Amino acid sequence: MNGAPVLELRDLQVAYGDQRVVWGVSLEVRDGEVVAVIGPNGAGKTTTLLATAGLLRPLAGQVTFLGARIDGLPPHTIVDRGLALVPEGRRLFGAMTVRENLLLGGYPARARRDRAATLAEVMDLFPVLAARAHQRAGTLSGGEQQMLAIGRALMARPRLLLLDEPSLGLAPRLVRRVFELVREIAARGVTVVVVEQNAFQALEHADRAYVLSGGRVAASGPARELLARDEIRRTYVGL
Ligand SMILES: Nc1ncnc2c1ncn2[C@@H]1O[C@H](COP(=O)(O)OP(=O)(O)OP(=O)(O)O)[C@@H](O)[C@H]1O
Ligand SMILES: [Mg+2]
Repeated sequence: MNGAPVLELRDLQVAYGDQRVVWGVSLEVRDGEVVAVIGPNGAGKTTTLLATAGLLRPLAGQVTFLGARIDGLPPHTIVDRGLALVPEGRRLFGAMTVRENLLLGGYPARARRDRAATLAEVMDLFPVLAARAHQRAGTLSGGEQQMLAIGRALMARPRLLLLDEPSLGLAPRLVRRVFELVREIAARGVTVVVVEQNAFQALEHADRAYVLSGGRVAASGPARELLARDEIRRTYVGL
């Protein structure tokens, strides 16, 4: 952990109605890091991301992004400050082309001026999207759709990218590819938080990780150290 703090969650609590599902999560992400969040189904991983991106209002706690509180701000304001979320399930516009989907992602004020240059960068990062620029998004394969969802989020020129289950439904070869791309994105200066079911791949590729269980942080540390711990391997990685 050596970069400047990009994201800090302090004692975050989130509920659906009167059902509390996140019970005081604290975590920190520093500039240039890839941070993985792993944990079983229902642990509160997606809920934590949604609350961070302003799509759910926390019951209590603080979300600090680039030194300023963002909890309570509307989602589009948070995007404008440089935080982009790729939600579980991708949410592409299936009837629109790949290029049109990407351009929509470049709409936030921070990104609009450089939209053409960013489009070229995203096409460079994902050559498959360049090759299929005029194909309808709904006809892409699962892996291609995931690349498009990530590419569209990058069009907003985020400082921090939150990815919810990017490897969901992908063949093992593509899962590895997605994680390699995550590293590549980080190398280009975008800090990444990745929520994953595929705990092994996530821990192999992340710098640090948090294990969520029952809405709380059960463990955290350098990803390699967590991967080396027997109880983590048995309980959360399935090794
Ligand atoms: N809209 C909702 N209304 C009520 N409860 C919800 C809602 N969304 C999620 N929950 C509940 O909140 C808890 C945490 O869900 P969440 O989706 O954050 O888990 P997760 O860690 O992302 O799980 P998964 O790995 O299965 O995606 C679960 O018990 C879930 O049933
Ligand atoms: Mg989830």
